[in-house]
Amino acid sequence: MTIYDQFFSHAAQNMKESAIRRMGKMIASRGDVVSLAPGYPAPDTFPWAEFREIAASLLGGQDGSVLQYGPTRGYRPLLEEIAAILEGREIRVAFEELLVTTGSQQGLDLVARVLFDPGDVVLVELPTYTGAITAFRNVQAQMVGVPQEADGVQFDALEATYQRLRLDGCRVKALYVVPNFQNPTGLLIGLEKRRRLLSWAADRDILIIEDDPYHDLYFEDSATPSEVRSIKADDADGRVVYLSSFSKTLAPGYRVAWIAAPAAIAQKLEIAKQSEDLLTGSLDQRIVHEACRSGLLARQLPKLRRHYREKRDVMVGALRRELNDTVTWPDPKGGFFLWLTLPDQLDTDLMIPRAVDNGVVYVAGEAFFVAPSEQGRSRGGDGRRTMRLSFSAPTKERIEEGVVRLARTVREELAAVSVSAPAPGRAER
Ligand SMILES: Cc1ncc(COP(=O)(O)O)c(C=O)c1O
Repeated sequence: MTIYDQFFSHAAQNMKESAIRRMGKMIASRGDVVSLAPGYPAPDTFPWAEFREIAASLLGGQDGSVLQYGPTRGYRPLLEEIAAILEGREIRVAFEELLVTTGSQQGLDLVARVLFDPGDVVLVELPTYTGAITAFRNVQAQMVGVPQEADGVQFDALEATYQRLRLDGCRVKALYVVPNFQNPTGLLIGLEKRRRLLSWAADRDILIIEDDPYHDLYFEDSATPSEVRSIKADDADGRVVYLSSFSKTLAPGYRVAWIAAPAAIAQKLEIAKQSEDLLTGSLDQRIVHEACRSGLLARQLPKLRRHYREKRDVMVGALRRELNDTVTWPDPKGGFFLWLTLPDQLDTDLMIPRAVDNGVVYVAGEAFFVAPSEQGRSRGGDGRRTMRLSFSAPTKERIEEGVVRLARTVREELAAVSVSAPAPGRAER
């Protein structure tokens, strides 16, 4: 029998299946499960009829470029639309600074490959987006987490962590942040803090990787467009590598996203992309281009903001009703996610089998954590009693039902751990 482990590279040996995909498999193998796990957009918000029309017209003609190879940087008219979207976000870029990517996930992978050697440090928010953890881990970058507070990453902890790493002789190259409605916490970095982060990064000569797929999904009752102002908008000296995507506003199946980066970095990203896929799918880019040009995207945004705000309200209402005395969370002001903290004696990873038995799944918080900074460690920085709930894809009725099932799970688990005192260690349960 061939033993394949011996063939794997170090990078491959370090690769781990995402907790979110694992949950997907678990649901597929069960009957009626309410999934509050993946951050998928709601399929009923996709503008099916308009997409059908656009695709039919593109495929009905004789324009060979619709299905042909094209420039790695992206379809030029789409780049022009992206530049206009960025202009609306007060980010002004030249074309040499733009690159269309196959989802922002590829963007993160490219950025990781272009910036990090094994052992280089990238500072991340604690918790942080799992896809970034994967991309950074694949190039063997060293991720160091910095705890967050209500308005984003804690500044004192950031500086202390940076100084400690410098003393240890580490090369700190970048800080990765999701400033708007962060995946997984739903938090928004405060405006003042965004400016401070930028000048802090400039003073220490490190880059900021700003990942901003939820920019347009602010909820009008709790956040304003000025509060989602990108860090990149104030980036006078080219410190910020900015990523955004059409996945959450048009449809993720097209896999069309983009990076705006200083020209020297964008050029390397282009070369790195050539070895991955040569170019983002031509038909996908053409459909997305037409959706931007025709005003479809602009018409979608207010509908999406309303749709997801209503679902947020349903989830928050159900949590207040079912679990108010037991769990805490910051109310999301936009995006797809709600971050729950449970009582200290619970472990959300160990609770998954009970949740599945009750017909509900979530993502255990641990998946979003990397080795914490010293400050994080002293504050329980491993996420053991946290979980991410997503309110984006399920219907309102399923969200209600999911929270009822989750509440039952939490009550049962609390009862189970209280009879098995002293509190059992992880290995025993
Ligand atoms: C913070 C963040 N970055 C990047 C991505 C990847 O998005 P895309 O579908 O464009 O690859 C996601 C998707 O959930 C995300 O939440």
